Amino acid sequence: MKNLQDLFEHEIKDLYSAEKQLIEALPKMVQAASDKKLQDAFSSHLEETKTQFERIQEICDELGVNPGNTKCDAMEGLIEECEGMIKEEAQKDVKDAGLIACAQRVEHYEISGYGTAVRFAKELGHTAIAKKLQTTLDEEYDADNKLDKLAEGRLNKKALV
Ligand SMILES: [Fe+2]
Repeated sequence: MKNLQDLFEHEIKDLYSAEKQLIEALPKMVQAASDKKLQDAFSSHLEETKTQFERIQEICDELGVNPGNTKCDAMEGLIEECEGMIKEEAQKDVKDAGLIACAQRVEHYEISGYGTAVRFAKELGHTAIAKKLQTTLDEEYDADNKLDKLAEGRLNKKALV
């Protein structure tokens, strides 16, 4: 890597891989959740993630970047933790609370990645790309807030019983 542009492209490839992996993982989260609202939250984030994946694909095209087989190791690890929770033998409200915890780790990772990418894009003068990345970043914040509300509300209280 010679310059910030190279690093930026590296970050974009990483995000591409992260979204791709998440599209595979989220249907399992939907299935594992018991609470209807949590299922809905995971389902709607799956649809959102598909759009985010298309968005990051467009960005790769615009930059002339080939994401190829780049693998985001961090997302792979986070998803492994989600899968561990899915397999866990747990009372259903406790499991839902655990699934939320895993999903929020994923969201926070994405928020961090997109936050950096937006900053780099702006610095490099990729104004239109920065806007696209910001759209995804806003969606990730919203998804995280939605999970926060589910966790703070009924779910965690139910898990105490
Ligand atoms: Fe995402």
